[in-house]
Amino acid sequence: MKTNRRQFLKATGLAGLGITAAPVATRAAPGGAGEASFKQTQPQRFNMHGYATPKLGTVRIGVIGLGSRGSGALRRLIRIEGAQITALADLKPEAITQALKAIKTHNPNPATYAGGEHEWKKLCERSDVDLVYICTPWALHTPQAVYAMEQGKHAASELPVALTIAQCWQLVETSERTRKHCIILGNQCFGAFELVTLNMARQGFFGDLVHGDGAYNRDLTPLKFRKDKTWFLERDIDRLGALYNIHGIGPIAQKMEINCGDSMEYLSAVTSNDFTMDRKVREMAAKDPFWQPWVGRKFNGNMTACIVRTRRGRTMTFQYDHFSAQAGTKMHVVVGTKAMAMMDPKPSRLFTTERNRWLTDAEFNAVVKQYTPEMSRRVGQSAETVGETTGYDHGGQDTIMDWRMIDCLRNGLPVEQNVYDAAAWSALVELTGWSARHRAASVDVPDFTGGSWQTNRPLMDLALKTGGTTRLI
Ligand SMILES: NC(=O)c1ccc[n+]([C@@H]2O[C@H](COP(=O)([O-])OP(=O)(O)OC[C@H]3O[C@@H](n4cnc5c(N)ncnc54)[C@H](O)[C@@H]3O)[C@@H](O)[C@H]2O)c1
Repeated sequence: MKTNRRQFLKATGLAGLGITAAPVATRAAPGGAGEASFKQTQPQRFNMHGYATPKLGTVRIGVIGLGSRGSGALRRLIRIEGAQITALADLKPEAITQALKAIKTHNPNPATYAGGEHEWKKLCERSDVDLVYICTPWALHTPQAVYAMEQGKHAASELPVALTIAQCWQLVETSERTRKHCIILGNQCFGAFELVTLNMARQGFFGDLVHGDGAYNRDLTPLKFRKDKTWFLERDIDRLGALYNIHGIGPIAQKMEINCGDSMEYLSAVTSNDFTMDRKVREMAAKDPFWQPWVGRKFNGNMTACIVRTRRGRTMTFQYDHFSAQAGTKMHVVVGTKAMAMMDPKPSRLFTTERNRWLTDAEFNAVVKQYTPEMSRRVGQSAETVGETTGYDHGGQDTIMDWRMIDCLRNGLPVEQNVYDAAAWSALVELTGWSARHRAASVDVPDFTGGSWQTNRPLMDLALKTGGTTRLI
């Protein structure tokens, strides 16, 4: 029996995902009729990679968004020497009240802005703010980071910093024009094991790096139904692709020296159907009419899997699944010509071609000890303690990330994760959606560095050759 394309799409449920009669392309860059056209590159106005701004003895910080993540960041930041919270902004006055209570002994009386959608702009405009730290819902990240930089402030934003390629370019153009940092808060890059494997990669333990896998797959379905946080449910509606992938891709990209030695060239992605959220929303709405407006909306698929090829011919895969029975796996696999590392599922493991087997526990521990970098040795233990007492950390990695950012700003050093990382990692949101809508057709990844990836030197000063002078208190 002959099935036409429309019948096929209907039968497979793909029609509702916006998949149209687009031809299958093997190596298509968008730009055809009706397609978005992604700007691939442009000459750099000024290279922000490795750029150091003047030393700031005290880093005066304005935090926007004091929900789960922002309130945790606030409690961490007040434990860093030379970090001072001068202003807070949130839509909800009660979030400000809670935040003030949390910091009153360490850092009393910051200015506060609440109650209006655009009140945060006043925080960015203050003369006593050096750094705007953004922990708001996704759609606000780029507008807030751009506005902060336009006001002469450095911006640090939660993930992803941008949702479209156009926004990624806007961040790059603004940072280069204003010469203000746009820092991506890629906390997973400061995980203890990820720092060890970065050090191992740099010292040749893996031989030539060939491939990396990354993901943070976790079932967030139960957390999706909070009446005070509906943006969290909305964020996967009318979007397809790997929307939250920086925990996976960031630590791999740093090892592959993306933007400073290599560059992502093209990728392909596939997305499964939605097997969970449509059903779950209907169940919730049957119990409580509050959820009725979300019934029948089009949710992202459960799983997006993506493969990237770099200009130096290496590959990376990453996944995004926040809806299936995922156990909270932090996939971090590094494969080289001589060795391989696998972080999850625990216990983490190392394989070497020399031994042609996984290392024993004793061998593994010895290697980890040998390659634990100075950055972890100097602050790892105290960061873990701060993380434990402040409540919202992931084993100390968030504290090390914040600590190093403040340390770099205080010492007038280049920041470890800059606007080109923010753009390249965030670009995967729109690119994976485009590819998934086009039957995994490959799509070129823009080069946000304007070609300077060929000469930029890797960041992440693991040995703390410079700075590292800031204390955790
Ligand atoms: N890196 C990580 O490990 C990690 C973990 C969790 C969340 N996140 C990211 O952190 C960000 C925040 O997530 P969350 O879980 O804290 O969300 P949340 O909803 O708990 O907090 C967001 C806060 O922003 C405020 N807000 C909304 N609109 C605003 C506006 N116009 N002006 C000022 N404030 C406004 C809200 O009132 C709320 O308090 C998201 O981007 C999320 O993806 C990162």
